[in-house]
Amino acid sequence: MKIISGVIGMGIGQKHYEAIENYKKSKVKIICEKNRIKLLKLKKKYPNKIITSDENVIFKDKDINLVSIASYDNYHFKQIIKSLKNNKNIIVEKPMCLTFKELKNIKNLLNKKSLKITSNLVLRTNSLFKKIKRKINKKDVFYIEADYIWGRKIKLFGWRSKIKNYSLILGAAIHMIDLIVWFIKDKPIKVHAFGSNKVTKNSKFKKKSLIVMMLEFKNDLIVKISANGVAEHQHFHEIKIFQKNETIVNTIKGSFEIKKDKIFQIKGKYPDKKNRKLLIQNFIRTLLDKKIKPLVTVQDQFDVMSICLAAEQSLKYRRKIKIKYV
Ligand SMILES: NC(=O)c1ccc[n+]([C@@H]2O[C@H](COP(=O)([O-])OP(=O)(O)OC[C@H]3O[C@@H](n4cnc5c(N)ncnc54)[C@H](O)[C@@H]3O)[C@@H](O)[C@H]2O)c1
Repeated sequence: MKIISGVIGMGIGQKHYEAIENYKKSKVKIICEKNRIKLLKLKKKYPNKIITSDENVIFKDKDINLVSIASYDNYHFKQIIKSLKNNKNIIVEKPMCLTFKELKNIKNLLNKKSLKITSNLVLRTNSLFKKIKRKINKKDVFYIEADYIWGRKIKLFGWRSKIKNYSLILGAAIHMIDLIVWFIKDKPIKVHAFGSNKVTKNSKFKKKSLIVMMLEFKNDLIVKISANGVAEHQHFHEIKIFQKNETIVNTIKGSFEIKKDKIFQIKGKYPDKKNRKLLIQNFIRTLLDKKIKPLVTVQDQFDVMSICLAAEQSLKYRRKIKIKYV
């Protein structure tokens, strides 16, 4: 089997392109980009590819067996559904969609097809986080803090200010939720989210630009996740994991393991951007060989989306929400 793909949206989609092109004989045949200026540049840069502003060129092409979706968040749902209806496997940027109804629709249709999907939850490929994961003793963990410090406030004022339903929970906190659920191999039962737009209230970004949420797990574990869209800070994933006789942290000063009064450095690459393409490449291997296990399972993807959407409800109704897993 050869992987012939189409990529939609050439922002982060450029990284999708680079992960796919020539990996295990996979190729990108078509690039879809709706920005006219980018489109002309892409035509010059990739003279042997089909460059189009019409996504249906990808969906109608019989050779294409993989669609890589890196468009704005509000297009993901429709593009996933079109991919499934046209029998194409899917790589989709997070979030998969923006509502519970859409999530259920995706699951229903996916269940009827023998097609595969992956969301680009790239933190799982980070070498430092893989090391931290190995140090966690699940039964001893009692509290975790995981902060997505975006450090790219300016980005809030582009397409994220324009689309309906944009959410920093679905757009940013999702990465930290996925990381923690992956770390401790367990899912929260309840979520209570809080939001503020103190820094952005006079700007064109009308949603909450800071989100803090508390997740309750079984066994008395509490997790605090934040998505901080407005901090004056470098882009950073700050983590503190408190377990009975040990604390593990990732801070801008480094990563450490604290035991009694001793501090040990944890060595691992961060942010380790080079490894991010491994998620897409692992997915390609799962398409080529049934024995290969995905880095993110289908249920992992629906779980993290269910948690995020419950957090959205919590924000809306201003109360704690029991998470219903799709
Ligand atoms: N996994 C990650 O770590 C990560 C990082 C950045 C962005 N993202 C996600 O990737 C997506 C794109 O974000 P970005 O940062 O690349 O934005 P961006 O603005 O840098 O680039 C998006 C590009 O896609 C094009 N585009 C948008 N909708 C399109 C459509 N329907 N058809 C064709 N072209 C379309 C735009 O013209 C633009 O060129 C978002 O869903 C975002 O959440 C994920």
